[in-house]
Amino acid sequence: MRLSRPSSFYLASRDLFSGSLRTISGGQNIMRPKVLITRKVFDEAIAMLKQYFEVEDNQGDHPFPPDVLIQKLKDKMGAMILLTDRIDEDVLSHCPKLKMISIVAVGYNNIDVEACTRRRIMVTNTPGVLDDTTADFTWTLLLATARRLVEADQYIRSSQWEGWRLMEFLGYDVHHKILGICGLGRIGQRVARRAKGFDMKIYYTDVVRAVPSVEKELGGLFVDKKTLLSESDFITLHVPLGPQTTHYISTAEFAVMKPTAILINASRGPVVDEKALVQALGEGRIAGAGLDVYEREPEVELALIQMKNVVLAPHIASASHGTRGRMATMAAENLVAGLTGRLPPNLVNSEVFGSSPLRDG
Ligand code: GLV
Repeated sequence: MRLSRPSSFYLASRDLFSGSLRTISGGQNIMRPKVLITRKVFDEAIAMLKQYFEVEDNQGDHPFPPDVLIQKLKDKMGAMILLTDRIDEDVLSHCPKLKMISIVAVGYNNIDVEACTRRRIMVTNTPGVLDDTTADFTWTLLLATARRLVEADQYIRSSQWEGWRLMEFLGYDVHHKILGICGLGRIGQRVARRAKGFDMKIYYTDVVRAVPSVEKELGGLFVDKKTLLSESDFITLHVPLGPQTTHYISTAEFAVMKPTAILINASRGPVVDEKALVQALGEGRIAGAGLDVYEREPEVELALIQMKNVVLAPHIASASHGTRGRMATMAAENLVAGLTGRLPPNLVNSEVFGSSPLRDG
């Protein structure tokens, strides 16, 4: 995306609406819109925002408590946030100047989008750029869990290895098994593509069936949720978190899975009922789990921490050097576009742009 500085004419014209953007002394000195960056982000993204806005950032890298977030956001026109910041009705009601929230993430379940839309506040996210990285990590979790890599690593580090044994650290084969993908969106498709190299059979379930060309390319079989859960050897979750998908996997779902099944979750924690997962693992209802996300992050059920057949990661599926940087830049580009009257490339609530007082023309 190419960015150009807003003209002083443009800035002057915005003043008619918001009073926040205006020119002083013939358009030379510009009082710039205030934006907040709630957490530590890459310098490039901060520098980009500083070209256009008066920026307050939080290099402390701990989430602001709700009251501090409100305090900081009160006089801001825009915010670049992370998935740890809760933007709800209460926050919005204290921030009358807010015109835009740009999240550095693809998932935006921490933002009350409906409340933003009612207040004509634009919301943007960073889709696409993290798909391959997240799919890579889903596979990292899957392979590590199936082949007990973390357990084996700890075995060596704690000096327990005495020598090669035929029957030590037996894991589960991945090749030629059935991979069940819940949610065949962009990330789910990338996960499926990688499964072809392992000669796996792919089942998928979703609210809508994929178009024939995608099904053909991936060799995916569209099945209902119960069939997928009961027949898959590996079940990986790629659904967005919302009311329909909260506890998408709970006691009833674990009950139909194979005892040798392995569950992978790199979507959002509350998609899995964590207590039901602990019970399923404890009772041997399933063989293992690879988790990147948790119901109450950063809290993790103690029982999961104590289980050897569970691989745990601290919500890092998109955390590669290149991808996290691109996500931050993309979020900055969204914010610049939205607050300078252009259509932000990744607007979630497009209905707001049509009615926003910031729109050009
Ligand atoms: C990460 O979890 C994201 O939603 O981008």
